[in-house]
This record gives sequence, structure tokens and C-alpha cells, in this order.
Amino acid sequence: MASLTIRKLDDAIKAELRLRAAQHGRSVEDEVRTILRAATGGDMPADNTKYRIAASSQGAVAAQDSGKLRATLIISGGIAAYKSLDLIRRLKDNGFIVRCVLTHAAQQFVTPLAASALSNQRSYTDLFDPASEFDAGHIRLARDCDLIVVAPATADLMAKMAQGHADDLATAILLATDRPVLLAPAMNPLMWANPATRRNVARLIRDGVRTLGPNTGSMAEAGEAGVGRMAEPLEIAARALEMARPPARPLDGRRILITAGPTHEPIDPVRYIANRSSGKQGFAIAAAARAAGAEVTLVAGPVGLPDPAGVTVRRVESARDMLAEVDAALPADAAIFAAAVADWRVANAGEQKIKKTASGFPHLDLVENPDILSTIAHRAEGRPKLVIGFAAETEHLLANARAKLVRKGCDWIVANDVSPATGIMGGDRNTVHLVSRDDGAPDGVGVDSWPAMGKDEVAAHLVERIAAALKEPAA
Ligand code: CTP
Repeated sequence: MASLTIRKLDDAIKAELRLRAAQHGRSVEDEVRTILRAATGGDMPADNTKYRIAASSQGAVAAQDSGKLRATLIISGGIAAYKSLDLIRRLKDNGFIVRCVLTHAAQQFVTPLAASALSNQRSYTDLFDPASEFDAGHIRLARDCDLIVVAPATADLMAKMAQGHADDLATAILLATDRPVLLAPAMNPLMWANPATRRNVARLIRDGVRTLGPNTGSMAEAGEAGVGRMAEPLEIAARALEMARPPARPLDGRRILITAGPTHEPIDPVRYIANRSSGKQGFAIAAAARAAGAEVTLVAGPVGLPDPAGVTVRRVESARDMLAEVDAALPADAAIFAAAVADWRVANAGEQKIKKTASGFPHLDLVENPDILSTIAHRAEGRPKLVIGFAAETEHLLANARAKLVRKGCDWIVANDVSPATGIMGGDRNTVHLVSRDDGAPDGVGVDSWPAMGKDEVAAHLVERIAAALKEPAA
């Protein structure tokens, strides 16, 4: 049967093929196979981007179709490269299809043939390899994967990465990728300790690259020991799996509403009543809910925190503004009221700055603000399935939280002690008790006390609980 050499096709056809292949995330060879199959079998579905290729048992397309993870493993030139051959096997055990790239120096230690035999894939070595570069192979190796593992990562390769060099296949891939990158450094302990390496590693970590190891132990050089051994293949393969797995998104398709921060209640145009809430806990919950896949609206009082990525943020000043924005953001599946709303506002707020007078102090009449949590929780129609309040207390924490649960009509109260000694208000850590309705408990209220943890961790745990509760059928 005649064979077809894509390289010999007209330039215009090659350009069209490259474009189609890039659009479909396939290699040019697989794109050609797809087109030929469709032309001969006529079984191309209407949405050809979802077209499945039965023929190819190798490469990324087969990986995509079978839902397997794909790793590009870059092996750079150090004695630890021999362990990378074992790493190929460990990555495969963890469900990865592995494509190997060997630097010039790596080939002094292991051969592309060994890497290919173990990975059952072609290995790559040259940036200017006509067989793969006619369709921009380095770009495919950089992007057509779930992550890139560099093991061993030598001091030299990391220095080049930190500087953004791209003068060989490995560095070109690392510069062109938008995938997570895991480095497993390995080198002599003095090279690892050298300020230049420390600088480069710190720079790479700041750029978002993850590192594992090096471990402590004896070196290949006689009598040398210290920090510099490559992490074990099992460890690297486990970390790779953790990084490549799509994160669980248990709140996909849910709408979540969160209030956060203090409110400011004007006394006159320049003065206001406020409290010490930093908004950190509410913002952390918004970020965690977003990371879990929810569509999140955060109604925030005046705080100096940046908008969490992907969250719709409505900035407000007063309790009444906050209630209006909460109303506008409904309906929601769950609403979490983490704001420290001022209980009172000044009824007779001055339109001009209040001046000192000889006749004594100004008289301020206070009126109660709307209770936003209670208003929403008691709604007969349009009440979120799950309504969660916070109780910030300085004494009788659990007794006050239980009373608030009942009085405000919410489903859960997250209670925390905000006495100044705890450092919780404005700080980064929190110790909370989740108080909820529990028909099994003697007084109908259950308390789950969590250990002290970062506000981000509290947020992640709370989001997990919310996701589980939203899955339960309505009572
Ligand atoms: N809350 C609210 N609107 C208010 C006051 C409070 O939505 N006007 C919400 C808070 O966001 C929090 C819960 O109610 O979720 C409890 O707030 P907290 O300040 O602890 O309680 P208060 O209702 O203000 O009661 P007290 O001041 O007596 O402790």
C-alpha cells in the first residue's frame, strides 16, 4: 500500500492541516487519519471536534479519548537520570501516558531508546527535528499534556528556566507551556546550596513552578553527602498525580451568596460607626466556593482586600446597602452571612460635618439596622436552601450561638470567639464551632468544634460541608 509523507504535501495544505490539528488538539498525523477515516467511512458526527479516533493506540489523541492523564517528562543531564527510567514506569502505574524529552546532557546517562521502550512512546531530543517540528512539535509537547515533570532538574536547566532561555527542546517546551510544572532537582549539595541556585529556585517558585526535593543522602561522588539527591520516583509520581488530577468541583452549577466585612454607618459626611472586621473569613469562603465550581456573589463592606478571582463582588458601605445588594443577588442555593453588620445606625446623621459647639456634645439617635440574615432566613419564598450565619462573641460563645440559630431562623451558625486575646478579628487563623439543627440532639442543636486552623482551611472545610448539605434532598 502507498505511504503518504505529510512533509511532501503542498505548503498550503500543510498550513491548513496544522490549523485544523491545533483547533482539535490533535497531531497533524492524527488529523490526517481523522479526515481519511471520515472520507472513507462517512461516520463523522455532526460535532467533529468530539470525533473519536479508534485507530491510534499511541499518543495524546488516544490518551484524550480514554480519559488518561498525559505527562511530558523532561530528563536533564545528571546521574539521577537513571532513576527517571523507573519514574516513567511509576507515572504509567499512576495512569499517565508519558512522553519523554531528553536534553543533550541527559543522553550521556540514558538513551532515548530506553525511554521510548519504557514509555511505549516516541522520545524527543531535538528542537530542530524535522520529523516533529514540521507541525510545531515543541508546542504540542508543551501544551498537549496535563503537566510537565522535570526529573532530574539540574542546576543548569533551572538557571535557564529562571532566565527564560529557549535554546533547546526542553527549555523551549518549558517556556511555551501553560501547564503545571513539577521540578525534581538533583545535584551536588554545594551546587544546591550555591546562592545562584537558591536565587533561581526561589524565582521559579515565585513564577508558579512546583518543586519536590531534593532529598538528603549520599551522592554518586565518593564520600559526598548532603541535600541533593533526586526525590524518589514513587514520591514524584504521587505528586504528579495530585497536580494533574482535575480538582473536585462539588459546587458546580450552584449559586452561592456571601456577605463579608464590616459596615460603615455614617454619623456625618466624614465620620462613621464601624467595627474591626477584616473581611478575611468571608473573602476566603468566597474564594473556596469559587474554587469548588460555584457561581459566587460576594457582598462586601469596606475592606482593603482584593476581589477573589472569578467572584462577582459588590462593594457596599452601610447595612441597608448590603441588604439591597443581597436581595439583588438572590436566588441562591446557599447564603453565608459572614459580615459583621453594624446593629445600629444614626437616625439623625448630619448632612454637614458636625462642629464642636460651646453647648456640649452632639446628640446621636440610634435606630436598629435591618437584620439581613434574619430577613432572608425567615423568607417564605425564595429562601436559599441553606442559610448560614456567623456568631462573633466575646463571652458565652455556644449559648449565644444556639440562641442566634433559633432567633435568626438559619440552618447553621459558625460561632467564633472574637475576644481581643484570640487575635481572630483581623488575624489569619480561626477556631470555629459549627452549630446546627440536629433532631437527634437533646435540645435539637448539634455542635461540631473544629481545631484552630487558617481562615482558608476553615473556608475549605465549610465549603465541603455546604456541598454535602446541598446534595441532600430538601427536608
Ligand atoms: N447579621 C445580619 N444583619 C445584622 C446583624 C447581624 O445579617 N443587622 C448577621 C451577621 O452577618 C451574622 C449574624 O447575623 O451572620 C450574627 O451577627 P452578630 O453580630 O454576631 O450578632 P447580632 O445579631 O449583631 O447580635 P448581638 O450583637 O446581640 O451579638
